[in-house]
Amino acid sequence: MMNFNYHNPTHIVFGKDRLHELNQLVPESAKVLVLYGGGSVRRNGTLEKVLTGLGNRKVVEFDGIEPNPQFNTLMKAVEIVRSENIDFLLAVGGGSVMDGTKFIAAAAPYQGNATDLLKHGFEWLPIDSAVPLATVATLPATGSEMNMGAVISHESGKLPVMSPLLYPQFSILDPTLTFSLPSVQVANGVIDAFVHVLEQYVTYPVDAQVQDRMAEGILKTLIEVGPVTLAEPENYDARANLMWSATSALNGYIGVGVPHDWSTHMIGHELTDLFGMDHAQSLAIIQPSLWKIRKAKKQEKLLQYAERVWNISEGTEDERVDQAIDMTRAFFESLGVKTRLSQYGIEPGEVDRVIHALQEHGMTALSETGDMDLTISRQILVDAY
Ligand code: NZQ
Ligand code: ZN
Repeated sequence: MMNFNYHNPTHIVFGKDRLHELNQLVPESAKVLVLYGGGSVRRNGTLEKVLTGLGNRKVVEFDGIEPNPQFNTLMKAVEIVRSENIDFLLAVGGGSVMDGTKFIAAAAPYQGNATDLLKHGFEWLPIDSAVPLATVATLPATGSEMNMGAVISHESGKLPVMSPLLYPQFSILDPTLTFSLPSVQVANGVIDAFVHVLEQYVTYPVDAQVQDRMAEGILKTLIEVGPVTLAEPENYDARANLMWSATSALNGYIGVGVPHDWSTHMIGHELTDLFGMDHAQSLAIIQPSLWKIRKAKKQEKLLQYAERVWNISEGTEDERVDQAIDMTRAFFESLGVKTRLSQYGIEPGEVDRVIHALQEHGMTALSETGDMDLTISRQILVDAY
């Protein structure tokens, strides 16, 4: 196992009917900006409960944070934070609203040009303050409710933003708030969480037994509860297990002391940016093809994944790896998510655009060892047709 530090300050408030606890969780004197997306939280009654939970505090609302939150939209909220002297941000929504709120938290006190904050990749932002933030998570997928990362869409690309100052102070995870999700978003969430685990688990072995078994536990849980959630949208236990799986997949805990890959995400972000597909759709396309091209490199962990997650124990090593890749693709498709670029109407010639974008964004040495260059990324994209 590799050396590591682990500190996650987010207070998780998990379970049914807990929005009234906002009254204890948010500082009494706070002036709160409540941020949300295109209106799902208004339609399903969550917003009303949040506003009630905030009691007599001064509250301003900001709506319209779109999926894949846009820099220009977020800067409008930054203006409100500044002009209204907001001192607490409450995100109510999915990954896009939570991520957008993190960016606003960093940008509002920032003295320089806010676009500078998009230029640091996975390095921590050079900031010494951020507006305190918290979340009410309505979509189990990204783990944003318990991590310090955000992904912001800008004309120059879909760009990561990281800072320990951006951990939510608390996150309310009430599985009943996810009952209203359309099935496509449920499937997206299962796949996003699944691939978050894979990016931290299917690399090379470092004898990290706890992390490996936790990763396998989350994957097996997602395989079980994903289909149940789709079939029974109001099954509380399935929703609860899905929600905690998604948070656990990317709150840092399974990722300590192990190598990380993130190549599927980096290529996937370019697909979303260029073609507008959902984040999880991009991952469902890239992950199986990436493994097909890179299976020799990942052989040991792929065999472990095949055996422990899919119970594949018969056949040669190559056959077992191939079967695990096929079963992963079949799992994504069973959730109703297509796994081929061609199924999204993308022409073969467009691979060049993706490669160009990867190059522009410096994504030329991806993977757990940094050996994945643009030639390999091209092979993966060609395979993904
Ligand atoms: O905008 P509203 O009207 O709220 O509707 C949303 C949106 O249309 C809807 N929705 C959310 N909760 C709902 C609901 N509809 C009904 N009932 C509910 N309870 O779902 C749609 C998608 O929401 P979005 O927030 O975009 O989805 P998701 O949570 O998948 O977030 C995706 C974003 O997160 C980033 C992605 O790149 C993408 O921008 N990621 C963030 C990460 C992080 N912070 O650590 C890691 C991930 O890998 C990912 O990159
Ligand atoms: Zn993701």
